[in-house]
Amino acid sequence: MKLSGCNFHGVIVIVFVMLSISSTSAMTNFNVLNFGANPIGRTDSTDSFLKAWNAACSTADSTFIYVPKGRYLVGSLAFKGQCKSPQIIIRIDGTIVAPSDYGVLRKWENWVSFERVSGVSIIGQGAFDAKGPSLWACKASSSNSCPLGTTTLRFTNSNNITINGLTSLNSQMFHIAVNGCQNVQIQGVKIIAAGDSPNTDGIHVQLSTNVEIFNSSIKTGDDCISIGPGTKNLWIEQVTCGPGHGISIGSLAKDLEEEGVQNVTVKKTIFSGTQNGLRIKSWARPSSGFVQGVRFIDSVMRNVQNPIVIDQNYCPHSENCPGQVSGIKIKDIRYENIRGTSSTPIAIKFDCSPKNPCTEISLRNVNLTYLDKDAQSFCCNVVGKVFDLVRPNSCL
Ligand SMILES: *[C@@H]1O[C@H](CO)[C@@H](O)[C@H](O)[C@H]1NC(C)=O
Ligand SMILES: *[C@@H]1O[C@H](CO)[C@@H](O)[C@H](O)[C@H]1NC(C)=O
Ligand SMILES: *[C@@H]1O[C@H](CO)[C@@H](O)[C@H](O)[C@H]1NC(C)=O
Ligand SMILES: *[C@@H]1O[C@H](CO)[C@@H](O)[C@H](O)[C@H]1NC(C)=O
Repeated sequence: MKLSGCNFHGVIVIVFVMLSISSTSAMTNFNVLNFGANPIGRTDSTDSFLKAWNAACSTADSTFIYVPKGRYLVGSLAFKGQCKSPQIIIRIDGTIVAPSDYGVLRKWENWVSFERVSGVSIIGQGAFDAKGPSLWACKASSSNSCPLGTTTLRFTNSNNITINGLTSLNSQMFHIAVNGCQNVQIQGVKIIAAGDSPNTDGIHVQLSTNVEIFNSSIKTGDDCISIGPGTKNLWIEQVTCGPGHGISIGSLAKDLEEEGVQNVTVKKTIFSGTQNGLRIKSWARPSSGFVQGVRFIDSVMRNVQNPIVIDQNYCPHSENCPGQVSGIKIKDIRYENIRGTSSTPIAIKFDCSPKNPCTEISLRNVNLTYLDKDAQSFCCNVVGKVFDLVRPNSCL
């Protein structure tokens, strides 16, 4: 039985390789093994990956970089453009593993990063294992002497990017960050880290336009998806979140001069045991920023602490903001078909800025309960409307 199982596996691998070669026959192929990558993680493969990238990047054709099954130990990898190749597909079937000593990456902000690239797709069933737990433990015991940690996968100033499949495991900081990009599609990814791991946001988007995040599962210690200033035309659909802090626009108003967030759709999401569901959050500080045109549609909450929340009075430890109010203007935010359970009595909380009240807030078909009873809602400095059934009774 065992032997035939092994043979069967071999056949699949051969067919699979043939398929991927034939489907990419118009492309120039590069396999990291041909650049000396070590698939059993015995030696460091950083240079081999960079050489494969440089070879693909400097080819005028469409190119294909293959990372076969195996475990590849790599340090900080910065893949830089601009490339001659108009399209680079990187297929990862193996696991890319960070050094087990987090000190090795101490001086880097990112573990794997792409800068000024266009037309790059990263696909496959492989994984990035950032070995975060020892850094999390350091932060839990003595936060001052630990490094900040790296973001597992970051795209900067890039466009036409696809990430499909792939797992990000145990990031040190953010799992995936998209910064200064256009036309990014993230689909079918799995993000996994402990519920108490610090700063391990699942996907962070900022200063980016036309980003889509579909069909993904995000279990982590911080925000499931965090949305920063300058985000425009963001579409999130069929994402499951939890554990973690939920989907959050903000924290905004970190800076005095900040770009706004506009046209964000969050649809068909499921939140399980998260700290927040759908949140908009800003520091109680002056800022030029704004949030407008947000649609939160068809969400299920399972035991979520703050299912619907706008918090414009964020000022932890009353530092750097006492006596100040948020300059962020929030308007045209719709909540539609949101149902499920809150794990605290207040299921809807709109705590807006006394200087810039939230306007055009609307709730339609919302049914949130607390311990099978009616929950409560809280409103401060907010103007809006209610349509159809809304439970708890809205204070709008
Ligand atoms: C992005 O892709 C679109 C459609 O494939 C193409 O028209 C456009 O030129 C690409 N942009 C860049 C900067 O590569
Ligand atoms: C959703 O993603 C999973 C992998 O996480 C994949 O197996 C499945 O086919 C995807 N479904 C759709 C509809 O894309
Ligand atoms: C809002 O963003 C979506 C994509 O997320 C796009 O299809 C739509 O055209 C945008 N709407 C406006 C008014 O820009
Ligand atoms: C609201 O949700 C509760 C608990 O899930 C359910 O019992 C109730 O029937 C729902 N109400 C409506 C009007 O859908």
